Amino acid sequence: MTSFLDLPPLLSAYGTVRLPGSKSISNRMLLLAALSNGVTEIRDLLHSDDTERMLDGLRTLGVQVDTLGSNVYRVHGCGGNFPVKKTALFLGNAGTAFRPLTAVLALARGNWTGGEYELPNYYELSGVARMHERPIADLVDALRELGADISYLGVEGFPPLGIRPATIHSAGKISVRGDVSSQFLTALLMAAPLVQQDVVIEVVGELISKPYIEITLNMMAQFGVHVERNGWTSFTVRGGSQYKSPGVVFVEGDASSASYFLAAGAIGGGPVRVEGVGKNSIQGDVRFTEALQAMGARIELGENWISATAPAGRGAKHSKLRGINLDCNHIPDAAMTLAVCALFAEGVTTLRNIASWRVKETDRIHAMATELRKVGATVEEGADFIRITPPVKILHATIDTYDDHRMAMCFSLVAFGEAGVRINDPQCVAKTFPDYFARFAEVVQSVPVIAIDGPSASGKGTVAQQVAQALGFHYLDSGALYRLLALAAQRQGIALNSAAQLAKLAAEMQVRFEGAYIWLNEVLVGQELRSEQTAAAASTVAALPAVRAALLDKQHAFRRAPGLVADGRDMASVVFPDAQVKIFLTASADARAERRYKQLMGNELSLMEKEMNANIATLLQETLLKEISARDERDTQRSVAPLQQAVGAILLDTTNLTVAQAVQGVLKSYHALKS
Ligand code: DC
Repeated sequence: MTSFLDLPPLLSAYGTVRLPGSKSISNRMLLLAALSNGVTEIRDLLHSDDTERMLDGLRTLGVQVDTLGSNVYRVHGCGGNFPVKKTALFLGNAGTAFRPLTAVLALARGNWTGGEYELPNYYELSGVARMHERPIADLVDALRELGADISYLGVEGFPPLGIRPATIHSAGKISVRGDVSSQFLTALLMAAPLVQQDVVIEVVGELISKPYIEITLNMMAQFGVHVERNGWTSFTVRGGSQYKSPGVVFVEGDASSASYFLAAGAIGGGPVRVEGVGKNSIQGDVRFTEALQAMGARIELGENWISATAPAGRGAKHSKLRGINLDCNHIPDAAMTLAVCALFAEGVTTLRNIASWRVKETDRIHAMATELRKVGATVEEGADFIRITPPVKILHATIDTYDDHRMAMCFSLVAFGEAGVRINDPQCVAKTFPDYFARFAEVVQSVPVIAIDGPSASGKGTVAQQVAQALGFHYLDSGALYRLLALAAQRQGIALNSAAQLAKLAAEMQVRFEGAYIWLNEVLVGQELRSEQTAAAASTVAALPAVRAALLDKQHAFRRAPGLVADGRDMASVVFPDAQVKIFLTASADARAERRYKQLMGNELSLMEKEMNANIATLLQETLLKEISARDERDTQRSVAPLQQAVGAILLDTTNLTVAQAVQGVLKSYHALKS
C-alpha cells in the first residue's frame, strides 16, 4: 500500500523559511574533512538520507565523526588513509556519496599495492536498485587510467563495484566525459590529491552542470587544495597536494530546495523569503532566480536571503507568470521546479539541454511529462528537452513520485491550482529534505473552510448559507449528498444496507448545486429531498463506511477559492480536518423539534396552525421530537465519523439565538482568526 499526502487547494503564499543545509555542500564537506589532516567542525550540516549514507560510509571506513549537536559534527580527518581496509558500503541512492567514495577508495593512500599495508584491501560499494541502473563506467574508466583496480560486480558499467588496491601509474593524465554527470569530474577532482604525482584531468565532450564543479573547486580550495584549470577543458591537481582542515566550517542553505519556496512566492503572491542562501552563494542553483525573473517574478537577493514575489498586476492583485524558453544546463535540479511553474504561466515553456535528467534518481524527463499530463498539461518530451503547454484548468490528480524527492517537492506546487493535489509516497523527500511538507505548510495559505457541524434541525444549513453569502464563499450542504444518495438508491431499488452497491452509486452519481436548486444526474430534485423519510434513509446510508469514503472526493471538490462554508456532521473532524474555523452548532432537542415543525408548517405560524386542533399539533411536535432524537442517536452512535464536537470546534448553542445572531457568531470567529 502506498501512503499519500493530500494537499488542499492553496490560495496564497507568503512568509519566511530557514533552509536546511545544502546536500551538495554537506556531502563534499564530510568527505573533504575525512580526507584532511586535522579535525574539522561542520555546522548547519543537512540531515537527510543522502548525508546519512555519507556519514555511515565514512564511519564504516573507520573515520571518527562526533555528533556535537543537531546539525553540528566533528570529523577527525585521516589524511586519505582510512583505518578500515576491508568492508562493504551500502550507499542507497546517494550519487553524491557513491561517485566520490568510489574515486576516493580507488585512490586512497592506504589502498596502493606496494604501500605500507600488506592486508588484502577490498571494498565493495552498492546501493538501491535504482543506483545500480545509474551509469558509472565513465568514472571507472578514468580511474583505471590512473591505475585503479575496480571490477563490476553486477552489470558491466554499473554499480555495485569491487575495489582492490591501485597500482598508480606515473603519467597521471586521464580523461573523463563531461556530458553524462558532472559528479564524475567532481569525484576525480576530490580524489586526485590522494595521488602523489600530478593528475591532469581532461574533459571530453561538453561539460554539463558546470556550477557543481565550481562548488567542488571552491570547497577544495577551502580545504587547502588549489586546482589549476584551463577553462572547462582540463584541470590539474599538483602532486603533493594535501587537504588541511579549515577548522570550523558552515554549510550554506540548499539552493535547490529554495526553488520550491521561491516558486511558491512567484505563483501564490508572495513575498516568500528563504534564509540560508543569498547573492554570494557558491551554489549554481541560486541562478534559478534568474529563470523565475524571466517568467515575470520579482526577486530580491540579500547577503544570506532571497525573496520572490509574483509578477506585479493591477492594484493589489498580482498577475500570472509567463512561459520561457531556456537552456537549463546550469540549473539541472532547480529546472524541475520551472517545469511545474509552467502550469501557472501564460504560454508555452520549453526547458532545453536537460539530458542529465534521464540518469538521475529516476528518468526525470519521462516522470515529469507523465505527471504533468495527469493535471491536464500538454507535454512534449525529447531526448534532452521538455515542452509544456499549461491546461486551461489544472485538474486534480494523484501524483506518483518515482522515489524521487524532487518530484514530490515540485508537485506540491500544483496545489495552487483549483483542485489541490494528492502526492504518493511523500516520505521520499527524506533524501534531501525530511521536513519539507511541514516547512511548505508554514508559508502557504490554503483555501479557507468554515466547517459547521451539528445535529438535525440545529439551523446549521440556514446559518451556513448566510455565512457563505456574507463572505462570498462557496457552500456545501453535505447532508444533501447523503439525502441524494438515499433518494437515488430508493429509485433504483437498492437496499439501504447494501454497502458495496451504495458506494458504487455514490461514486457515480452526478450532483449539481445552484443556489437553492439541486440536480441529481441532471434532473432537478424536488421537495422530497427534504422529507423526514429521506432524512431517515440518509442517516441509515450515512452509517456505512464505504459510502462515506465514496463521497469524500465529491465534498473536497467544493473547496475552491475564495473559500467554503460546509455544513454536516463530520466536516471538522473528517472531511476538512484542517478547516480554519470549526463550529459545533446545536440547540436543545425541543427547540429543534419546534423549528422543524415551523418549517413543515410553512415557516410562519400559519392560519392552519391556529385552526388546527391543538392536540394534533402537539402530537406532530412530539413525533418530530422522537424522529429527531432517533436520528441524533444514530448519527452520534455510529462507529464511523460520528456526530461530535470536533477538537478545536467552538460550541454555538442557538437555542435562544436568532438566525442573524448565530450568523454573526460564526462571522466573528472567522474574522477573529484573520486578524
Ligand atoms: O444535515 P441533514 O439533515 O441534511 O443530513 C441528513 C443525514 O445525513 C443525517 O441524518 C446524517 C447524514 N449526514 C452525515 O452523516 N454526515 C454529514 N456530513 C451530513 C449528513
